[in-house]
Amino acid sequence: MEREKAISKDQIAEKVYEIYDQAYEKVPSIRNPKEASRLLKEKYKLLVEEDLVTLVFSSFIEGFPVLFEGPPGTGKTEIGEALLTLWGGRKSFVLPCSENYDEYRVIGDFHPLRAYKEGFNENSFIPRPLLAALILDSGVLIDEIRRSSEEFQNLLLDIIDKRRIIIPELKRVYKASGEGFQIIFTSNPEDLAQNELSDAFLRRVVRITFSYPPLNKELEILRLRLGEKIELYEGEVMVYALKAIDEIRKTDLLYKPGVADSVRWMGISARIAQLRNHRKVMVEDLIDGAKASLVKRAEEEKTILEIIESNVPH
Ligand SMILES: Nc1ncnc2c1ncn2[C@@H]1O[C@H](COP(=O)(O)OP(=O)(O)OP(=O)(O)O)[C@@H](O)[C@H]1O
Ligand SMILES: [Mg+2]
Repeated sequence: MEREKAISKDQIAEKVYEIYDQAYEKVPSIRNPKEASRLLKEKYKLLVEEDLVTLVFSSFIEGFPVLFEGPPGTGKTEIGEALLTLWGGRKSFVLPCSENYDEYRVIGDFHPLRAYKEGFNENSFIPRPLLAALILDSGVLIDEIRRSSEEFQNLLLDIIDKRRIIIPELKRVYKASGEGFQIIFTSNPEDLAQNELSDAFLRRVVRITFSYPPLNKELEILRLRLGEKIELYEGEVMVYALKAIDEIRKTDLLYKPGVADSVRWMGISARIAQLRNHRKVMVEDLIDGAKASLVKRAEEEKTILEIIESNVPH
C-alpha cells in the first residue's frame, strides 16, 4: 500500500523501491525501550542498557538526531545500526564517512550518458542512500562523522532541521513521511587527524558517550558472543584476560583494545586451542591469540605480552 502510494506519483520513489526495498528489508518496528533492549540482546547479541535505549528513543521523538561518541570497539556502530533498524522497522542505512563525501554520493547523482542525451531529469537521476532512507522512512547511521568535511556536515544539518531534501536540478522537494527517518552519528574524538565538530552541529544533536564497560558487563558480552566456545574457558581465565585488557587500556600504547578486541581475542584463542586438540584454552593459546588480535604494532608487542603473562595464572 505504502509502496504503491509513493510510487504512483513519483518516478524517483519508484527507483528507490526498485533499488533498495529488498536489500533493506522490513522488520517489526519496536518503540518500547524495554522490549528493544531485550531484542538487542536476543536477536542482535548486543548488550545495551535500557536507559541508553530510552535516551535514544526520547531524542527521536523530540526530533533530535543522536551522536554516539567514544573509543573504538565499544559498539557504537553496531548498536546504532540495530537501534535504528528496530525503531524504523526496516534495516537501517549506513553511510561510512570520508573526506570526499558530498551530496552526489548521499542524495543523488545523474547518470552521465543519460544526462548528456536527455538532460538533468528524473530519468537520468540515480537516488543514493540518504534520499532513499527519507523516502522509505527508515533510519540512517552516519558513521565516523568527524571524517567528513564541514561542508558535508552543514548539508546534513539543513536536512535534519527541516526533515526534507531538495534536489534543485529536478525542482523537487522530498519530505520525511513518518518518524522512521532518524539519524545516529558516530565519532571517536580521540582519533587523530580528524575534524572537529562545529558548535552548530553539536547544538543540534543529543550526545551520548560510550566507554569501556565494567568487568562484569564485558564478561556478559563475551558469554553472549562466544556461544559454545565459552566452554573451553575454565575457571577464571576469562576474568584474568579481561583484567589484562583493562591494564592495556590504561597504558599509553597507541592501540587500545575495545570490547570488539576482547571478543576477537577470546574467539581466536578458543579456536587455536581447538585446533591444537587442547581440552581447554591454555596460556600459550591466549598468548598466540593475543599476538593475532591485540598486537597492532611490532614495538608494542613486548609490553602487551608482559601484561598478559603477569595477569593470567600459569
Ligand atoms: N554492548 C555490546 N554488546 C555486544 N557486543 C559488543 C558490545 N560492545 C562492543 N561489542 C563488540 O564489539 C563489536 C562492535 O563494535 P563496533 O564496531 O560497533 O564498535 P565501534 O565503537 O563502532 O568501534 P570503531 O570506533 O572502531 O568503529 C561487536 O561485534 C562485539 O564484538
Ligand atoms: Mg564504528
